[in-house]
This record gives sequence, C-alpha cells and structure tokens, in this order.
Amino acid sequence: MPDFVEIVEMGPRDGLQNEKRLIPTAEKIALVDALNRVGFRRIEVASFVSPKWVPQMADGAAVMAGMTRAPGVRYLALTPNLKGYEGARAARADEVAIFASASEGFSRANLNCTIDESLERFRPVAEAARADGIALRGYVSVVTDCPYDGRVAPDAVARVAAALRDMGCHEVSLGDTIGQGRPETVDAMLAAVLDEMPAARLAGHYHDTAGRALANIEVSLARGLRVFDAAVGGLGGCPYAPGAAGNVATEAVDARLVALGYRTGLDPARLAEAAAMARAMRAGPGEGTE
Ligand code: HMG
Ligand code: MG
Repeated sequence: MPDFVEIVEMGPRDGLQNEKRLIPTAEKIALVDALNRVGFRRIEVASFVSPKWVPQMADGAAVMAGMTRAPGVRYLALTPNLKGYEGARAARADEVAIFASASEGFSRANLNCTIDESLERFRPVAEAARADGIALRGYVSVVTDCPYDGRVAPDAVARVAAALRDMGCHEVSLGDTIGQGRPETVDAMLAAVLDEMPAARLAGHYHDTAGRALANIEVSLARGLRVFDAAVGGLGGCPYAPGAAGNVATEAVDARLVALGYRTGLDPARLAEAAAMARAMRAGPGEGTE
C-alpha cells in the first residue's frame, strides 16, 4: 500500500485573503462546496483576524454559516488572539490555528508585535481550545527567508516550532511565506526543527513564488513529512509579505505526489473543477495576487 500524504486545502483562506477584488461571500461558499467534493480531510476556510488588517477575510462567520459541511471533512480557521478564537468557536471551526513568525520583521508586519509577544497572545487561545476540545494547529512563517530581515536561521524556526508544540499544537505547519526557500535551505531548516519534534507532527506550507515549491516538497518527503498545505489554482499569498505569490497549486502537488507513488485520496477530475473555479475567481490577468 503506497504511503498516504495529506494535502490540506488552503484556497478559501490563504488563497483568497490576498485577492484585490473583494470576493462576494456566495463565491467563497461555492468554492468551499466544490472543494467538499474533492476528498480533502481538512480545508482552511476562514480567518478571524482584524477586518482592518485583512478586509478580504471579514466574512469568515458568514462563509462558515453558509457552506455545506461534508462528512469526514474538518474545517480550519486562523485565530490570532482570543477575540478571533471566540469568533471561530462560534462559527463551529473544527480546528483553529495560531500563527507565529520566525523573524521579528515579519512578526511586526503581520501581527504588530514581537515574536515573544505573539506567543504570549496565543497562550490563552491554546488554553481555550484545549478546554473546548478544539484541535490546535500552529504555523511558523518565513521559515527560510523574510521579506524584511533576509535569511532566517534554522534555529529561530526550531525555537518557535517548539514553543507552539509546548502550547499544545498537534501539528506545526512550516511556511515559506514568500516562496524563496531552496531545497538546501528547506532541508537545513527541517533538520533543525526535527531536533525538536517528529516529522509526523509537521506540515510543509510552501508558496510557489520562485517555482521551487514542488522541489521543496520533495526534500520534505525525504525528511519524512507527510502533510502539505496547498491552494487550488495556486490562489493566494500574504498581504503582509510583499512578493508572496500563491500557495503551491493543489493540483500540481497532487499530480507530483501521485507520480512519486503516494496516495492522496483526492479525485483529480473534481480537483480540476475546483481549480477552474478558483482561477475564475481571481481578479483577472495582471491583477490579483503578486
Ligand atoms: P492590532 O491593531 O495590534 O490589534 O492588530 P488591537 O488588539 O490593537 O486591535 C485593533 C482593532 O482590531 C480593534 O478594533 C480590535 O477590536 C480589532 P477597534 O477597537 O480599533 O475598532 N481586532 C479584531 N477584530 C476582529 N477579529 C480579531 C481582532 N483582533 C483585534 N481577531 C492583530 C493585531 C493580530 C489583530 C492584527 O495584526 C491582525 O489581525 N493580523 C492578522 C494578519 C493576517 O491575517 N495575516 C495573514 C494570515 S498569516 C499568513 O498568511 C501566513 C500563513 O499562510 C503561513 C505562511 O505562509 O507563512 C499562515
Ligand atoms: Mg501562507
């Protein structure tokens, strides 16, 4: 039996958060409904962040109220603080995610605080999730390169990943936020993080700005990772990371994994339909994500 690799679908959240066109809630719901048919175990559908910071995600509660919940699919939401957590809980998120940075420059830009302040802010979120029995995921951003601080030391990533683990994250997703990681730098970063926690608790979250995300996934597979984040149609980016192009496209990751002999459980025809829908949602040629 070939190894199973989980692709966690990011399109409705990481994908759409960076679109310049304000996407109507009904279109987001239609995208989630199309993704529901593909075979994902987890779909990140919303982000309960400040609407002043990311207006595109302001309708997370409405998306989660309007979408169909498919059996066997768990729906994730980003929660930067307790206020966001309360929104995600009210919207019946199955799993919430806290998100820290490996560099001070990106932490300041994305969360308006230092790394240590962000970890302090996440602590009550983690405690509330534990008390409510809601699964907790963690992200570390800029795991190899930061748009503000340049090259990021592997040890800095390992330190933040360990802090998220200690807070109760069952899984830590490692974000190459601006897609500048190279197989060598991703491999060195993973070596440091694997000193802190096993591959079974890590996910790779690679943006495809420089076209190296699939190569970075391959070195991560060699290191034992079996969970990767991706967005249909290569949607997305991060509004606080200049130059962050889309997440690696789910359909490209799926095709590569299948070619390498892994099982993903996704239906390629339905995935192609969802990807076509995602591409149609983009602002149009020359606009949208950079
Ligand atoms: P702040 O301005 O320092 O916070 O922002 P504040 O506590 O002073 O609050 C400012 C205002 O926001 C207040 O409203 C709060 O009520 C409100 P006012 O009194 O001015 O009317 N507010 C909220 N409203 C709704 N939901 C909330 C919330 N929190 C405060 N949860 C804050 C700090 C963390 C809120 C802000 O910096 C923020 O929202 N940042 C999120 C940025 C973001 O969403 N970035 C993209 C996601 S991360 C990502 O894409 C990377 C990832 O994909 C991995 C990778 O690729 O690396 C995960
Ligand atoms: Mg991302």
